Amino acid sequence: MKIDESKNMPTVFVIFGATGDLMKKKIAPALFNLYKKGRLPKLFKVVGVSRSILSDDDFRKRVGEILKSHGSKEDEVFRSFLEVFLFKSGQFDNEENYKNIAKYLLDIDVSWGVCSNKLFYLSVPPVHYEMILKNLSSSGLTLPCSQQGGWTRILVEKPFGKDAKTAIVLDNLLGTLFREEQIYRIDHYLAKEMLQNILTFRFSNNLFEDSWHKDFIEKIEIRLLEKIGVEERGEFYDGIGALRDVGQNHLLQMLALVAMDNPSSFDAVSIRSKRFDVLEKLKMPSVEEIKNYSYRAQYEGYKNIKGVKLKSETETYFKILAYLDTPRFKDVPVVLESGKRMREQVKEIVITFKHQTPCLCPPGIHYKNKIIFSVEPQERISIRFWSKKPGLDMEMEERELDFLYRRDGERTQYVEEYEKLLLDCILGDQTLFVSTDEVQAMWKFTDAILDVWYNDIVPLKFYNPDTDEARESSGYIEEYISSDNL
Ligand code: BG6
Repeated sequence: MKIDESKNMPTVFVIFGATGDLMKKKIAPALFNLYKKGRLPKLFKVVGVSRSILSDDDFRKRVGEILKSHGSKEDEVFRSFLEVFLFKSGQFDNEENYKNIAKYLLDIDVSWGVCSNKLFYLSVPPVHYEMILKNLSSSGLTLPCSQQGGWTRILVEKPFGKDAKTAIVLDNLLGTLFREEQIYRIDHYLAKEMLQNILTFRFSNNLFEDSWHKDFIEKIEIRLLEKIGVEERGEFYDGIGALRDVGQNHLLQMLALVAMDNPSSFDAVSIRSKRFDVLEKLKMPSVEEIKNYSYRAQYEGYKNIKGVKLKSETETYFKILAYLDTPRFKDVPVVLESGKRMREQVKEIVITFKHQTPCLCPPGIHYKNKIIFSVEPQERISIRFWSKKPGLDMEMEERELDFLYRRDGERTQYVEEYEKLLLDCILGDQTLFVSTDEVQAMWKFTDAILDVWYNDIVPLKFYNPDTDEARESSGYIEEYISSDNL
């Protein structure tokens, strides 16, 4: 049982950048939830590291404020949880600082009388990664404290590089300091309940799996449409753009989940390798295909955001036509679409099935059967099908079988995902983390598109924020793949 396992794993969680945004939005509330659920190890400490000069008490006060801003009340559990937090101030580039941390961690182990596990989390901009990783290594912090036990693991946030080349450099660096089984690369989409549920839907049921392939499926559409814009993230986002920010990772991981073969066993190695099998088989589009069947646009007003260049060419919306070279999905069009400042918030995967032949359905153009996995606006699975209308005539209408996974308000975005990710990392379960092979395969595909885009072969278009303009202007991609053209 997982609960017992985590309880018996004395662990110190070292967070670099502990006074930053990720701590506020995700880590502190996620840890508190795990604490309340009794899922943290009995012996557990969080050591926050940052350049700020803070005492343990100052740090605890800050964490307390974060928890209150997430709606927690200051009660007994709240106060005892804050005891978990310790603080070490220091510059990331100062070697001496790492030696102090090592000594500090040793003191914790001595007070516990064990050699504890060490989990390092880089909650800092990627420019600091190299320096922190190198210092961690030279100070001996990456080594377990004993040969009998006490693992060391590292959690890294996306982006993993800016393209395949920089991702290799980062991975080579990680690889010299840690083994692959010690590296936990976060893509929080993999930890979304609804997306984990895709594997259950497909492989724990026997309803659709036999028709889950090219003979029955006409197309796959994956969309991540957000109402929010780039807001205060201009400096990070500019020069990155929507394809790198969410396409290279979240959308492709969603594709991997709907398109992968049965992993036979549900362990991390099998699932990760099946996801990779899909990502590796993303067909490299030709320049001509990219020119004709990809679209990129920027919302009006984006350039006024702080941190964005006046002449920025960064896309905030894209639509791409992709194909997989797998026996299961060869020639099935996949539409990947994402945008910020869209009219509505929609995060979903839509699987459209081909017609029956002959089909007892209305003549002419009409909807086909669809299965929709929806993450937002609500978590649900819908199945659209034809039904006879009640009455004397043989008239048909489209109806929907709808499964609402949870009611609104039963989840806290990000916090829930980080709860799962942090716990799995402590437990050593890498299923929901991205492997180095997956990262490379995803970059290979998006690099091909970005190369063409940035050579101005696909000119950047513009759209009015909070409208469907960009979606409509790129509608020619869907028109092209409508069955009449294929
Ligand atoms: C992040 C991107 O990885 O995912 C953000 O950096 C994006 O730009 C976010 O808004 C979307 O995640 P979610 O969980 O809100 O759908």
